[in-house]
Amino acid sequence: MAVYVVYFCISNYWCDGNHPLQNKEEKMKNTKEINKWNPETYNKHTAFVSQLALPVVELLNPQEGEHILDAGCGDGTLAIEIEKYGAKVVGVDMSAEMIEACKEKGIEAYVGSVTSLSYANEFDAVFSNATLHWVKDVKGAVENIAKSLKNGGRFVAEFGGVGNMHHVVVAIQQVFDNHPEFGAFQNPWYFPTPKEYQALLESVGFEVKYIELIPRSTPMDDIVHWLDIFVNGITEHLSKEQFEVFKSECRDILVNTIYSEEKGWILDYVRLRIEAVKIG
Ligand code: BEZ
Repeated sequence: MAVYVVYFCISNYWCDGNHPLQNKEEKMKNTKEINKWNPETYNKHTAFVSQLALPVVELLNPQEGEHILDAGCGDGTLAIEIEKYGAKVVGVDMSAEMIEACKEKGIEAYVGSVTSLSYANEFDAVFSNATLHWVKDVKGAVENIAKSLKNGGRFVAEFGGVGNMHHVVVAIQQVFDNHPEFGAFQNPWYFPTPKEYQALLESVGFEVKYIELIPRSTPMDDIVHWLDIFVNGITEHLSKEQFEVFKSECRDILVNTIYSEEKGWILDYVRLRIEAVKIG
């Protein structure tokens, strides 16, 4: 069976001494990351994710000389793809480790949040893959993206839409319910409907050119690897032993819903893909 796991990047932004976001640096130090990311573990299991996102890069249709912001650039794999078209990419991501990996690939990149960008009328396009479902301040994110774009600039993104990871979310909830000592499950994800997200985009000055919910069943080797990578922000207060119980019980539930002998583990991913233009 082919080995697959899931990948994700989270939006970001950082500042060095001369960067226009310098005044945000203190703010960022106080911003808690939702999840911890290890580029090596991530890459080991998730190379396929960038490949699945290549149609989103095609939708972006980068042009020679364009200035493009990658909101949630992760380790820069997709920024590299975008720069192959001759565009110049600036990446932002909440994970300092991911930003280091991104810079090592030669991409200009900063640690920071998509909800506190200091750019104004600067970019021809903003690109984002597998990030926006992690951002709690959904309005703040699209406001900041709109502000960063030039008039007529485009916003092209893909992230989890309504129904994304339904079985996994249900299983996590069930395990928390079964273990009051784990505390309450604080669901960190936002998976909107197309209608809801279109209204949000329009409320901050975008015209939506395209929006589609795309079910994408995604094979992977074992759900436990997905849990290891993606739920540490939800389970960081658990002891090591409790975390093992948590994973094992999630697996026991999910084996009945997203596993079969013929197909193995199939994650119930649903993507929301959008293209919008800033009108102003
Ligand atoms: C996603 O890419 O859809 C995703 C990844 C991790 C957690 C939740 C959703």
